[in-house]
Formats: sequence, structure tokens, C-alpha cells
Amino acid sequence: MSEKFLWGSATAAYQCEGAWNEDGKGASIWDEFCHSAANTTKITGDVSCDFYHHYKEDIKMMGDCGQNTYRFSISWSRILPKEDRVVNQKGLEFYDKVLDECEKYGIVPNVTLIHYDLPDYIGAKGGWLYEGISDEFAYYAKVVFEHFKDRIPFYATINEPTFNASCCYLTGNYPPNVQNSLQDYFHCIYNMAVCNAKAIREFRKLNLKAKIGLVHSSCSYDIFVDNEEYRKAAKYGEYFSTECMLDPAILGKYEDNFIIALTKLGLDLSYMHEEEIALFKDNTIDFLGQNAYCRNVVKPYTTGETYVQVNNSGSGDKKESKIIKGWFESDFNDSMIFNKWGREIYPKTIYDTLIKRRERYGNIPIYITECGHGAYDIADENGYVEDDDRIEFLSSYINYMLKAKEEGVNVLGFYVWSTMDLYSWINGYKKRYGLVRVDYDNGLKRIPKKSYYWYKDLIKDKKDI
Ligand code: BG6
Repeated sequence: MSEKFLWGSATAAYQCEGAWNEDGKGASIWDEFCHSAANTTKITGDVSCDFYHHYKEDIKMMGDCGQNTYRFSISWSRILPKEDRVVNQKGLEFYDKVLDECEKYGIVPNVTLIHYDLPDYIGAKGGWLYEGISDEFAYYAKVVFEHFKDRIPFYATINEPTFNASCCYLTGNYPPNVQNSLQDYFHCIYNMAVCNAKAIREFRKLNLKAKIGLVHSSCSYDIFVDNEEYRKAAKYGEYFSTECMLDPAILGKYEDNFIIALTKLGLDLSYMHEEEIALFKDNTIDFLGQNAYCRNVVKPYTTGETYVQVNNSGSGDKKESKIIKGWFESDFNDSMIFNKWGREIYPKTIYDTLIKRRERYGNIPIYITECGHGAYDIADENGYVEDDDRIEFLSSYINYMLKAKEEGVNVLGFYVWSTMDLYSWINGYKKRYGLVRVDYDNGLKRIPKKSYYWYKDLIKDKKDI
């Protein structure tokens, strides 16, 4: 592991690359979804901020900011465009060039293999529910590991398995747009756990110096009433968004009570196979990527069907919330503060989450692989954005992260989401996260925001922590 604390920023392939069909790239499920009638917004990532052609400029800006790490993802369908398993050399060459630029500025790459964008041929067979997906994923992972080897010191298998599964099979706002199916949700996460284990098995065969991890989204589950029923609701919450994935990935097994709880939900668990579960034990991750956005506040389940609500309109009218029938539901109080997309802003969650991860998973190395503030940025006539709200958000989260570090949590790096403005899935382009503004109306011009300069100073100040 790198010894220096890593300060950087993050992007994901579909959200920033553009060039969706260039140089032999195949289509992903996001290309297909965005081009279909199901995409009522009609907004796509076809061009986005066009990192594919602007990567030199973007990486130079990271270097000038003092960032010593960059998290990005590889597009699976750029490397393996069709189901014939033939490798697209131009796809590999693109990422070679990205790595060359990173090297030039002393930027440590942290690379995720899949960030939501499955190839369309996998989607056509059932996506994450396809029974052959783990073998396909392991093959893709092997191609990547064998090509890049230790040029990439940090690999992450899957971005945000449980959040991805929730969007695909509960909220239904991501392809394949299935709603309220707990059966598909848990099946999807199981398949992701098997994908993770099989990719790690390939990775270990190569005896690389590089490390391999997983990027997880959910933060802590909190309760406003401290009694047994509420604590049980919080435990169900942890099963629901964290332990279902991190237990197999870090502890190498499921807790018995988790399987009992799934059975009580009435799920058909015939998708679980002993020989696959056996793979968990010897194929665990070296580090955890933990994303930090918002906490979950829950109370015991009262009534109603399973339902996961998000707010993609940004109109401030709906709060994110969940009912998981029989397990728990969201709770609120008047002191909570929300952004326009109905997501709570609660900086202490990063501290609580880090402490909780240490309690359950030992002092595993942790990188905060995403933390960021989505907002309607307002630019002046020169395109400059004074994003004081973003600076306040990031500095309060970072302070809580440093508190956990001071208390001995093995946290080794922090990545702002996002490096520059990019496609925010079905929130489109108005919801912005970047340290650098992208002027979509004027040739995708990059203009660093106030937060970019603030981050530069912070990195200088904290380079020796
Ligand atoms: C994370 C994802 O969940 O949150 C990113 O890994 C995403 O891909 C980020 O962009 C912010 O979410 P959103 O929906 O506001 O773009």
C-alpha cells in the first residue's frame, strides 16, 4: 500500500468518457437505456464531458491541484465489446494512455472494474441476474489484471453493489427498471458477491503487488429511539445495505441470522449454491472503498409494501426514504437538513460509519472512495463558480474523517466526487458535483471552481498526515 495519505478525486466511465461508440467500444446497458423510450429525460452520456478526448487536460488539472490519486472506472464494453470474448486492443490502449498521464503527475490510479455499466450483451441475458455473469466478470477481470498488472496499484471489483441493486430492482430508476422486487434485489447482490470472489481468485493467481478491494455506498444506520425494537430495525438495515455484501467480501461468509431473516421474508434462495458460497472464504478483499454521502435513519416497520423512494427531479419536494416490509422503514425528525434531491446532509455519518466498519470488520484499510455535494451551481460571466456550500460540505466530512483517523481507524485516502462536472445518471447534467466546472454550452471548457482551489490548499496543508 502507498504510505502517503491519498488525496484525490473520482469519476466513472459512463459518466465522463463520452465516445460511447468510438474505437470499437460496444454498447453498455446505459447506452441502450439512454437511447430507449424508457429514458424519459432523453439525456444521455453519449458525449458528457468527453474525458475520452480531454483526459490529458483533466489529469493535468488534478496534478496542478496537488491530487496524488485518481479513482476512475474501466468500461467493460470498451475492453470486451461483444460476447465472443475478443479483446478490443484500442480499449486497453485508451486506459494505458490515461495511466501514462497519471504517472507523469505522480498520481496513483485506483481503478474500478464495473461502475453500473454492464455490456449490453450481458444485459440481454439478464444482467446481474444472469447465471453466467460471474464467469463473464471473472474473464473480463483477468484480461484487465493481465494487461495492467502492477501499473494499477489499487483495483476495486464493483462500485456500490447494494445501491446499484436497489436502483435496478427496487426503485427501478436504473436499467432494467424493475420495481419493488426484494427477490431480485438480494439475488443481484448474491451474484455480485460471487463476481467479486471469482475476480479476486483470478487476481491472486497473478501474485501482484497491487491490492484489490470493493467500493461500498451505504453509510451508518442510525435510530432516534434507543430500545430493542429500534436496534433490531437498524440491524435489519445493516443486513439490507451492508452486511449482505461486505460480510462475504470481508469476513468470507454470511451470518446465519441473515440467511434466516431472508427466509422469513419469503424469498426463494435457490440461487445460492454451496460451491459458490465456499469461494467467499479464500477470496476476500484487501481494502474497503467506502463512499460517504448520507446516513440512514430507521425505525421498526409499521405498514405498507416494500418501496424505495429517491428524488431525481431536484425540486426539493421529496425526501429519499425506504420501507422494507417486515424489516424497517425510514424515520425523520425536524433537525434533519436535506439537499434539493431529498438527501440528508449529515457530516458525522462518515465518522460513525468508519467506527462501525472497524467494529465489524477489524481495522481493514479503508479509502473514502467518494464524497461530494450535488448542487445547482451558478457561474459568473467568466464561468467561475463560488461553491461555498460544496466547500462547507466537504470540509465538515473531511474533519469527521480525520477525527476517526485520529482515533485509530485505518483510513488511508479520500476522493472528492467528482473530479469535474459529469453526467449524474438520470439526474442529468444540472446536478453538479465537480471541483472543475464543465461549460457544456461552450466547447466543454474546463474552469476550476472555488472548491478546486480550496482543495489544493487543504492537500498542501494536510500532505503529511
Ligand atoms: C454514487 C455513484 O452513488 O453517487 C456515482 O457511485 C454517482 O456514480 C454519485 O454519480 C452521486 O449520485 P448522483 O445520482 O447524484 O449522481
